[in-house]
Amino acid sequence: MADQPKDRIFQIEAIGEDFSFNERVVEVFDDMLDRSIPFYREVIRATAELLDRLLIENDRIVDLGCATGTTLLEFCRLMGSDEISFLGVDNSRAMLEKARLKAELYTKKRRIDFLEEDIATINLPGTGAFILNYTLQFIRPVQRESFLKKIYDNLRPGGVLILGEKTISHDRLLNRVFIELYHNFKRNKGYSELEIAKKREALENVLIPFSVEENRALLKKVGFASAECYFQWFNFVSIAAVKNEEVPR
Ligand SMILES: C[S@@+](CC[C@H](N)C(=O)[O-])C[C@H]1O[C@@H](n2cnc3c(N)ncnc32)[C@H](O)[C@@H]1O
Repeated sequence: MADQPKDRIFQIEAIGEDFSFNERVVEVFDDMLDRSIPFYREVIRATAELLDRLLIENDRIVDLGCATGTTLLEFCRLMGSDEISFLGVDNSRAMLEKARLKAELYTKKRRIDFLEEDIATINLPGTGAFILNYTLQFIRPVQRESFLKKIYDNLRPGGVLILGEKTISHDRLLNRVFIELYHNFKRNKGYSELEIAKKREALENVLIPFSVEENRALLKKVGFASAECYFQWFNFVSIAAVKNEEVPR
């Protein structure tokens, strides 16, 4: 892929401004994710392998909060079946403009559709898989249960929700150490102390993480029969939750 514009937002951004997915962020977003989410690409690849085994012919994968479409583009490239369709949903026009451009440049025969909509209002019954990566954490905690219930209701029997999240630990020592290790990760990716501190402050009121147990409990509460972690790196986790009813194979 072409060189990505570098994320220098918190070299220049004023302290005190809450983080938002504005146009300045969109411009550098792919670089930001690669340098801010541990094992971002590896998780996408592992998820593609998992979905390859769980999905059935003519299934649709819907990526909620798809941003610039990186995950769906990778799925397109990696997944075996030609019968799977792809839909990305985001409420940021700027993100979707970039996603459409990337899809035009990098997908050859398979099509990805993008929809500009609030993910809270989705109505896509019979979906084979929903992807919700690093996005639930931005939804207000009181709304998370009803939102996840809606996703559950929109899955076909045997369908799967992939949930990737930044988490907290209720063990104070481990929580602190996990955060320190995460900041080390960012330092190793070239972010300065000041950039790390400013981003942390900007996200403070916007990104509200739950623990792994809280996320799994919520998934079980809305009806998922199973919710298993398939990847974890300190305070980052990916969970696969299956709607365990009879699968129409
Ligand atoms: C951290 S990014 C997601 C990254 C993406 N899932 C990935 O793995 O590359 C969060 C995305 O969710 C979108 N978003 C946040 N709240 C939303 C909402 N209520 N409806 C639709 N999109 C939303 C933002 O515009 C942003 O693109």
